[in-house]
Amino acid sequence: MHLLGVQGMPASQLRAVLARARHYEPEGQRAVTPARETAGRVLDVLRGVTVANLFFEDSTRTRMSFSLAARRLGAHVVDLTSSDSSVNKGETIRDTAANVAAMGVDAMVVRHRASGAAALVARAVGATWGTCVVNAGDGKHEHPTQGMLDSFTISECFGRLEDFDLSGLKIAIVGDVASSRVARSDIAAMTTLGAEVIVVGPPHLAPPSLRVLGCGVCHDLDEVIDRVDAVNVLRIQFERAGGGGGGPGERVGGATLAKAPNVVSSVREYAELYGLSLRRAERMKKGAVILHPGPINRGVEMTAAVADGDRSVVLRQVGHGVAVRMAVLELCLGARS
Ligand code: CP
Repeated sequence: MHLLGVQGMPASQLRAVLARARHYEPEGQRAVTPARETAGRVLDVLRGVTVANLFFEDSTRTRMSFSLAARRLGAHVVDLTSSDSSVNKGETIRDTAANVAAMGVDAMVVRHRASGAAALVARAVGATWGTCVVNAGDGKHEHPTQGMLDSFTISECFGRLEDFDLSGLKIAIVGDVASSRVARSDIAAMTTLGAEVIVVGPPHLAPPSLRVLGCGVCHDLDEVIDRVDAVNVLRIQFERAGGGGGGPGERVGGATLAKAPNVVSSVREYAELYGLSLRRAERMKKGAVILHPGPINRGVEMTAAVADGDRSVVLRQVGHGVAVRMAVLELCLGARS
């Protein structure tokens, strides 16, 4: 079985993945079955299985946590990155995937800058080789395990780990929504679980057309900041807009940023209007939390004080990512046999 996206996934299936992730989550794990399956141990669930990470785009969290997840389940892991592969000699992703499949791997975890890349790989290797394909982020399309781990984190913060029912919760996704695969997977996962989602940003980054995804749209962060239970702050994707060149950019929060004329006209103005400052964070409801998928542009999407503050659950998201990816690999590979 492949995991290419969350959009269209039935709630029962999504909840089954999250429930399995809870089983693997160290805190929950200690409470349920002490000392049997803790995060540091290697299990036998995927013993004899080989997982190939095919990362054609940079990653820290996703790649490392998929590797850790596979290893903790007992699998072998091999890594291929675009920087040291024959992609640099012009080989297509389809040919690359077919050649890796021919070596006998059971699953491929694929990240690529092109939307639809994971689906293309699944078509290339699924039927012929029986290889499972897991989308680790394709262009602006989807990042399904990020949507799952963000939903898991919010479920934990609000005591919903028993049923993963997010009814009654209002979640804001702030920033560069139009370019964001995280936003698409978050909106799909969180609305499927019953939450109300509103995207917030300037009209070109959060256009009204996004309503088709089942979320609300707002252009004023100050209008919603004191009404939501969670704020997921997205990174401005300077590299995706292709505006990073052309000499030094603005200084924000002590750092000089690359120029980004295609994303926002002024990074400083963006930070003032849509950045999560301490002043804005202090207006949030009691118990409301702040998420960020990473990597954070400190001083742009949020200040360092907010990123490291009491409301921030950024590193809890990262920790839950391993458990979610253990569950995904187990369920995808288990469904294959
Ligand atoms: N959240 C996320 O996808 O981070 P990486 O790009 O570091 O994997």
